Amino acid sequence: MQFKYHSPQNEKEISFINISELQKASGRIIPRDSFDYIRSGAGDEITMQRNTTSFNTKEIYPRTFAGIKTPDLHTSVLGIPISLPIITAPMAAHGLAHISAESGTAKGTAAAGSIMSISTYSNQTLEKIAAAGNGAPQWFQLYLSKDDGFNRHLLEEAVKNNIKAIILTVDATINGNREADMRNRFTMPLPLANLKKTGQNKALSLEQIFDNFLPNITLKDLSKIISFSKLPLIVKGIQNPQDALQAVSAGASAIWVSNHGGRQLDGGPASFEVLEEIAATVNHRVPIIFDSGIRRGQHIFKALASGADITAIGRPLLYGLAQGGWRGVKDVYDFFARELSMVMQLAGTPDIEAVKKAPLFTAH
Ligand code: GLV
Repeated sequence: MQFKYHSPQNEKEISFINISELQKASGRIIPRDSFDYIRSGAGDEITMQRNTTSFNTKEIYPRTFAGIKTPDLHTSVLGIPISLPIITAPMAAHGLAHISAESGTAKGTAAAGSIMSISTYSNQTLEKIAAAGNGAPQWFQLYLSKDDGFNRHLLEEAVKNNIKAIILTVDATINGNREADMRNRFTMPLPLANLKKTGQNKALSLEQIFDNFLPNITLKDLSKIISFSKLPLIVKGIQNPQDALQAVSAGASAIWVSNHGGRQLDGGPASFEVLEEIAATVNHRVPIIFDSGIRRGQHIFKALASGADITAIGRPLLYGLAQGGWRGVKDVYDFFARELSMVMQLAGTPDIEAVKKAPLFTAH
């Protein structure tokens, strides 16, 4: 599949009231099959929808007398200071949204003072994306390959390009049931630049890529990656306290609670629904990163108050990228920062540590 870029040169500030409106506007400019790939989830999309609606099962207590006008959003993760408790989640093929592709997302993320996650299936090379980050912190997301030589090559590239941590995705060794992609006969856009060394230059569906190249993942793989790269390993796609514990005992430096934005197991719980139990089980041994379904500042507040140390945003950043290149990415960060700050002020929480200690109210 070839890219069908829209307005290639646009790098501009964008304006939108909320993410739902931004998504609709982006659907009018991103070509249909690409937009479907980005937006959709597995099966009936029940888990995907629940990712967002489940935030409504807990409420935030307003606090009136805290005397805070401007809350402080700064925090840190794995020793990296960041301007806000939000980072860029790994996503494949940003070229589907904008000609600047991952470089645009990296530049926008750096401008927001946060961490960029680079996907194995990026359209640009790790080296090019790292350069676009201009020294800002970046993590590399690994889809473990059946070819161990290729895994080693990617990890070497990561180390060479000053990547600060490896994210191993463990919830996608087969593809989820992506019906929109089946209907559109969607194939991943080329180039998937990091795969060049494998000779992979055919337009394949994600299902073909996963089936052909990805092995099952065992705990031994975790220790192998850690001893080879010597970088902190973040295990992404954890939805179960037992898996979290196993990953921590195998040496994980952080647990990433995620259900892949509802793109894998439809019929599983919302990511937010399992967060509290996983965080309680991990019990601060390692930090918890959380994603899936965040569309509002109040969602970030609730995730932090339920055990997450930081949160990650996926699709909304691609919608921002589509609308305005790197500036659009920065605007999406600004949107979440503004909403989170407002919620923190109204909840009487001066900083992120206070949010993490805030009790939530459960009416149901
Ligand atoms: C790729 O990782 C996808 O979920 O589409």
